[in-house]
Amino acid sequence: TSPLRLGIAGLGTVGTGVIRLLREHADLLRHRTGRSIEVVAVSARNRTRDRGIDLSGLHWHDDPVALANDPNVDVVVELMGGAEGTAHTLVTEALKAGKAVVTANKALVARHAEELAHLSHQHGAPLLFEAAVAGGIPAIKVVREGVAADALTRLGGILNGTSNFILTEMAETGRAFEDVLQEAQDKGYAEADPSADIDGWDAAHKLSILTAIAFRPIVFDSLAVSGMRRITTDDIHQARKLGYAIKMLGVARRLPEDRVEAWVQPCLIPARSGLAQVNGVYNALTTEGPFSGPITISGQGAGEGPTADAVMADVIDLARGHGLPLWGRVDEQAPIPCEPVEGLV
Ligand code: NDP
Ligand code: HSE
Repeated sequence: TSPLRLGIAGLGTVGTGVIRLLREHADLLRHRTGRSIEVVAVSARNRTRDRGIDLSGLHWHDDPVALANDPNVDVVVELMGGAEGTAHTLVTEALKAGKAVVTANKALVARHAEELAHLSHQHGAPLLFEAAVAGGIPAIKVVREGVAADALTRLGGILNGTSNFILTEMAETGRAFEDVLQEAQDKGYAEADPSADIDGWDAAHKLSILTAIAFRPIVFDSLAVSGMRRITTDDIHQARKLGYAIKMLGVARRLPEDRVEAWVQPCLIPARSGLAQVNGVYNALTTEGPFSGPITISGQGAGEGPTADAVMADVIDLARGHGLPLWGRVDEQAPIPCEPVEGLV
């Protein structure tokens, strides 16, 4: 069988992690898929930056969008980030060229769900984004495949690693917000603009994607979002005295008459609850449905290793020949606005 040839755009935390994982697990991947998986081309902004990995032998494109029409590339792996601009152009051009696309870019998928789903179907080009939601947790797989036949009534949980890491450190060590945020950035957890993590928008992107798969597409800007900037160490300690933990949660509920409620905000939850034990960079996702009942999965929600593994889960699906529809007909249902949510803090 011919090798599956990847073109990777973006060689930061996730991109270099994917190359490392591929190299370390080349034999294992060949055994599991029956074919070899090779990186043949790459692109990033700075060609001369030392990234701690050997890029010799790989074709370098100065313009990442060129990967979309590189005849040697079977799968475009977009790991640059950003809902607009180069990432959007690369992904749309690759789908138009009939190439499979794997991306970790939740902002892009959440904000352009309809367009991307439409292009994917129109051109018969798979679009996969397991790494876009909750890092190393197979969140998309659970919602799209694990409980695929159920009409879920509720889903959500802790969907951002950076904010959970900050809240945990503030609670356990009393460290200042800015200090912990800097550590989250140094560890590669945070978004390029970390306000997306702190102000709840990153969790909102993930919730919007899960909602589109599990319920129906929603108008992204109608999501009720409140961030964690105003939470102080004192708030966390006061909450603890009363038997509560403060966690950033994102939750979506299916309401009667095809309506949806979805919000992201800091919440007081009982300190003895399972969710209160999900600490550090860990995320947790719970789904509830009449047939499947409650399911909760937890794991590392950000960082090089877990995210690279989630990207590779999609690549493995493609290597095994799993075809359409991998996203569902999101483009056939017009997005609806979420119901208003009272009492956001
Ligand atoms: P980084 O900032 O570490 O890396 C981004 C890479 O993209 C860099 O190599 C950068 O090039 C390149 N890049 C950015 N813009 C352009 C451009 N216009 N043209 C060419 N190259 C460009 O980001 P991450 O690896 O952390 O994140 C990548 C994606 O994965 C994002 O969508 C993010 O939301 C998502 N993600 C990240 C997770 C994480 O834990 N970090 C977890 C889950 C998803 P250069 O290095 O030359 O500057
Ligand atoms: N910045 C994101 C987070 C990366 O901290 O959860 C994973 O999606």
